[in-house]
Amino acid sequence: MRVLVTGGAGYIGSHTVLALLERGDDVIVVDDFANSSPVALERVARLAGRSARLHRLDVADEDALDAVFATERPEAVIHFAGLKAVGESVADPLRYYAVNLGTTFALLAVMRRHDVRTLVFSSSATVYGEHQHAPYREGGGLLNATNPYGQTKVMIERILTDVAQADPRWRIALLRYFNPIGAHKSGLIGEDPRGVPNNLAPYIAQVAVGRLAEVGVFGDDYPTADGTGERDYIHVLDLADGHVAALEHLRAQTGVRAWNLGTGRATSVLALIAAFEKAVGRPIPHRMLPRREGDLAQAWADATRAEEELGWTAQRGIAEMAEDSWRWQSGNPQGYDADETHAEEARTA
Ligand code: NAD
Ligand code: WQD
Repeated sequence: MRVLVTGGAGYIGSHTVLALLERGDDVIVVDDFANSSPVALERVARLAGRSARLHRLDVADEDALDAVFATERPEAVIHFAGLKAVGESVADPLRYYAVNLGTTFALLAVMRRHDVRTLVFSSSATVYGEHQHAPYREGGGLLNATNPYGQTKVMIERILTDVAQADPRWRIALLRYFNPIGAHKSGLIGEDPRGVPNNLAPYIAQVAVGRLAEVGVFGDDYPTADGTGERDYIHVLDLADGHVAALEHLRAQTGVRAWNLGTGRATSVLALIAAFEKAVGRPIPHRMLPRREGDLAQAWADATRAEEELGWTAQRGIAEMAEDSWRWQSGNPQGYDADETHAEEARTA
């Protein structure tokens, strides 16, 4: 299949592009490197033995995107591009609404113009908000996220639902990811957040590699087994496979549908730190801090819909996630920036 991947240089995108290349798809990546490095795609090409074709542009630039569709003629699209930092979205909501909605509007207009109506969208467990309870089910009621980032995902799900209802030729998958962590087995590609990480796993990994001093554990008085927050961490390779499964499923199904991509299992903050300690082979300094505003005690998926309808289940456990994250982080202590030539090119291009 000829698949266009927006945001294909990013964390989840790069692993998914590799999975597509490995199964023989023809892959076109559109990315402006707002939050990623071209080195990721070079490494994906090394691993796959062949490359995706890269177009460096802002997905919201409808004319430029139109030209890419005209020459590349994709049959399906996976839409990862967007901004994803919750705290940043609270501080600058307009930017989040503009980028996440603007890229999606431009993409939908261009797809319609070129008669491409198969779309896999990166949604998030954040759409369940605070009024539903774990395990989250896809059909469970009104979606209402607690922050502007999450609200963009709720809005885009709504827009895509309306689009599919207006024209039954659309085939749209809304994939609600839980907490993606881990990295490719090679240690060549992985998560490389800019600045201090917001999320737990890259924070732990950066403490382990000596970039940060200690992990702050946000709250130890939650009503959970050890008092720390519990999440459904999912290996990024399982997530990549979930995208392939969704693309295959859309060959046979029109309309729009949401699927949770999670493991159905919850892991506490302290348990994740312990898994990293085992992978790293030494203690990881951490200390208790007050709760982080807006955090839930527990969040995990009911993943049965994806199993029954997509034939997909997560295969990899927490130990493997920690080992693979650590292989990536220890081999690339400064992330992709260590490749200075490319980092410089990316900064100045
Ligand atoms: P990422 O930041 O690593 O990847 C996003 C990619 O999109 C980057 O390569 C970035 O350069 C690109 N991009 C951003 N704005 C762009 C624009 N206007 N034009 C072209 N390219 C643009 O993030 P990720 O973790 O890989 O997440 C991918 C998607 O999955 C996002 O939509 C995110 O909201 C969603 N998601 C992520 C998580 C998570 O915890 N990582 C969880 C749920 C959902
Ligand atoms: C996990 C657990 C924290 C950092 C976020 C977004 C969500 C989705 C995934 C995109 C919680 C605790 C964290 C730290 C800690 N992204 N923690 N110390 O909050 O579940 O979800 O990323 O869609 O929308 O909200 O993930 O990794 O930030 O936190 O103790 O330094 O780790 O309290 O219990 P979260 P996270």
